[in-house]
Amino acid sequence: MKFFLKNVGKYIIIGLLACAVMLGCAACGEPFTEAEMVTEANAFIAENAKNTDERWRGDYHLAPRTGWMNDPNGFVYFKGKYHVFYQYHPYAPVNGVMYWGHAVSEDLVKWEHLGAAIAPDQTYDADGCWSGSAIERNGRLYLIYTGHTDRNGVRVQTQNVAYSDDGIVFKKYERNPVIGKDLLPEGTSIADFRDPYVWEREGAYYLLVGTMETGAAKVLLYRSDDLLHWEFVNTFLRRTHAGFCWECPALTHTSGTDLLLLSPVDYPHAQYAFWNYNSAVYATGTVNYGSGTYTGSAFSEIDYGLDFYAPQAIRRGDATVMTAWMNMWGRSYVPALQGHGWSGSLALPRVLTVKEGKLYQKPVPAIAEYYGETVFIADSLSGEKTYAGVSGRCVRIKVRADLSEANAFSVSLFVGDGCRTVLTYDRKSGTVTLDRTQSGYAVSADPRELSQGKRRVAPYSLRDGVLEMEIFLDKSSIEVFFGEGELAMTSLSYNPVTADGVRFSCNGTARIEIEKNEIVVE
Ligand code: FRU
Repeated sequence: MKFFLKNVGKYIIIGLLACAVMLGCAACGEPFTEAEMVTEANAFIAENAKNTDERWRGDYHLAPRTGWMNDPNGFVYFKGKYHVFYQYHPYAPVNGVMYWGHAVSEDLVKWEHLGAAIAPDQTYDADGCWSGSAIERNGRLYLIYTGHTDRNGVRVQTQNVAYSDDGIVFKKYERNPVIGKDLLPEGTSIADFRDPYVWEREGAYYLLVGTMETGAAKVLLYRSDDLLHWEFVNTFLRRTHAGFCWECPALTHTSGTDLLLLSPVDYPHAQYAFWNYNSAVYATGTVNYGSGTYTGSAFSEIDYGLDFYAPQAIRRGDATVMTAWMNMWGRSYVPALQGHGWSGSLALPRVLTVKEGKLYQKPVPAIAEYYGETVFIADSLSGEKTYAGVSGRCVRIKVRADLSEANAFSVSLFVGDGCRTVLTYDRKSGTVTLDRTQSGYAVSADPRELSQGKRRVAPYSLRDGVLEMEIFLDKSSIEVFFGEGELAMTSLSYNPVTADGVRFSCNGTARIEIEKNEIVVE
């Protein structure tokens, strides 16, 4: 709180500056043009990036150079590079008026920042260029995004296009919005009508938009021949008791199924799943292009951690790759509150497959290119122990533990200065718990969250009594992939830089093998 109070004044000043920039010379009758707003933002970023505090910024996770990031947007492969855009408020690490930030990568691990790509300069997006997607058509890159306005208590969301031939400098389509009120079926809320996701099939373009009506959440399907003129096809999917609004739909075809990703707000809790206020879920199923509908399975939670939301996936060659905002709405954003000048990052991109209706996630193979030497340990463990060479804050730790003679097994991460974040397997309940209550800086949560922003529990079955997990730490993040990738847990944890210990403990006896590598991305 002390730090918040200390920095709140600073953010108000930055916020006022940002507003001044956004209003441009409105007072003298000449608003900034889009290009000017992007240029202005990029100058601000260049000037201020040197003042951020880096102690919690991941080495191999994309985070904004200054300001606030949330959802990944427009995840696409264009002209030899992966591009990821993201919800971006460059001027302060707060959820402000959104731009799209932009970064490119050749391997999805090492990213090059390209600053702001589009700015909220038009009447239809004056209060934010909200989430959306990207697609290439005839060598041109198209972004389709939600224009958000919220004036005098009236919120309007429409779908809009910006395009670029070099993939860097974007121009907004002069006849935006391309999907507005006239293409909205009756009873649908224009106040919550957002996050367009586009794909191509047999020369036609399809688009999903997340929305709601009284008593139900739904996704609408649109169709176009040129990405600029759209028609409403049908309600793609609609469910009751499934959250009050579905954000960020995404669709990909993988392992013989049409995999639908959604981010429902206030999805009903299950015994272990959906314990965050905002959940990221998937369904497997089939798109019926004739009727414009989706027949799908029940929703399952994609990641059982505290910090994983608004995922987007792309398909390239044989692989489907997903990333997400590695954070959550309604939480206290610790780096921002500590005055670090930035907030938010994206999850390590994951390769997706589906087997028997179940989603499997594995970190992109390219991460292995950045591993340092392997430290290997084999031991029989009873009680608590540390191992020489097995520590660090930017590391991969692979653990194989035979728990046939154990009741419980834990790995404590970011240990030091009285802190630890603990991952525990309990045989009796058949669950894994990821608990950050003893981390250095508490994260508060929306009071409606069952997780309280503190811990998550996931059901998990051992194979022949063996627990296998691959843990990725990156200064303030923990991503754990179990077995073949059938369970993933992603959470943030903020600790002093000296808290770099890793401890193993066993109630009973475990035969363990550990492989540890530093991850070095320069
Ligand atoms: C999801 C979301 C989207 C919206 C964007 C605004 O996290 O709420 O629905 O477009 O963030 O930044």
